[in-house]
Amino acid sequence: MENIEIFKTQDGSIGLYDKALDEVFHSKFGAKKEAFEKFIEPSLFYKDKPTKILDICYGIGYNTKCALENFSNIQLIDCIEINKELVLKSFEFEYDDKINEIIKNNLKKPDFIHFYIDDARCVIQKLDKKYDVIYHDGFAPYKQSVLWSEDFILKITSLMHENSIYCTYNHSKPVLCALYKANLTIGKVIKENKTIATIASFNPDLIQNKYSEIELGELNTKSAITYRDKNLNLSHFEIIENRKKEVELSLLPTLSQYKKQLTKQFQE
Ligand SMILES: C[S@@+](CC[C@H](N)C(=O)[O-])C[C@H]1O[C@@H](n2cnc3c(N)ncnc32)[C@H](O)[C@@H]1O
Repeated sequence: MENIEIFKTQDGSIGLYDKALDEVFHSKFGAKKEAFEKFIEPSLFYKDKPTKILDICYGIGYNTKCALENFSNIQLIDCIEINKELVLKSFEFEYDDKINEIIKNNLKKPDFIHFYIDDARCVIQKLDKKYDVIYHDGFAPYKQSVLWSEDFILKITSLMHENSIYCTYNHSKPVLCALYKANLTIGKVIKENKTIATIASFNPDLIQNKYSEIELGELNTKSAITYRDKNLNLSHFEIIENRKKEVELSLLPTLSQYKKQLTKQFQE
C-alpha cells in the first residue's frame, strides 16, 4: 500500500490517508461511525427487506461491512474499487471477525458479493441491474472530480428503481444539482443540527429532511454548476478547467446575489 498511511480514528477503527492525493479515506472522528451515520442509517428502510446494494468506491469496505452488520436480508452487493490491493487486503483490517470472514470468502469465491476492480466510470457502463441501495463514496470533487460529474451521476441513477435509495457523504451544490437534474428528491442527513450527508430517491416519501424550495433555488446559481464529463473519459484537471470556464461565462446569479434577492423579497 504505497502512498497510503494508516491511522486510528476516534471511534477506535482504522482510517487511511492517501499521501499522494493528500486526502483521507475516512473521517478522523470515526471510520466505522461515518459508514453507519452517512450511509447505513439513511438506508435502513431496507433493513429487513431483500436488498441489492451497489458500493461505489469500496476502499477497505466499511460501507459494505457495516451494511452486512445491519441488514438482515442482503441478496447481493456489487463493489467497485480502482485499487486492487485495498480490496484484497480489506478483510485484514480490524472489524467483526464474522464480517471479515464473509468478505474473505467472497474474495476467494464470489457468492453474493462481487468485486469490480476498475475505474467506476467503466464499470458503471457495464452494469444493468437495478439496485435498492447505492453508496457513493468517492474522494472529494476538488481532489477527484471524475466520480462527481452530472454524467456519471446520471449513469448511477439509471441503476435505480422508484424506491431505490442513494447515499453519499457529499452535500456540495454541484452534486446536489446533478441529483436534482436526474429527477431525484434530495434530502439532508442531519446530526447534531449539521448536514453531514445526502440521501436521494425517485420516491419523495422515502426522503426525510427534504431540501426546501428556497434551498433548491440555490441550485440555480453559479455555485451549483455541475461537473461535466460527457463521455466519462476526461481527466480531473480537464473537468475542473471546463467547469471554471462555464462558471465564468454563465449568466446565472452568484449564490450571494440569489441570497440578497431573497432578503429583498422578504423585506418588501
Ligand atoms: C473516500 S475513499 C472510500 C472509502 C471506502 N468506502 C471505505 O470504506 O474504505 C475513496 C475510494 O475511491 C477509490 N477510487 C478513486 N478513484 C476511483 C475510480 N475512478 N473508480 C473507482 N474507485 C476509485 C479510491 O481508491 C478509494 O478507495
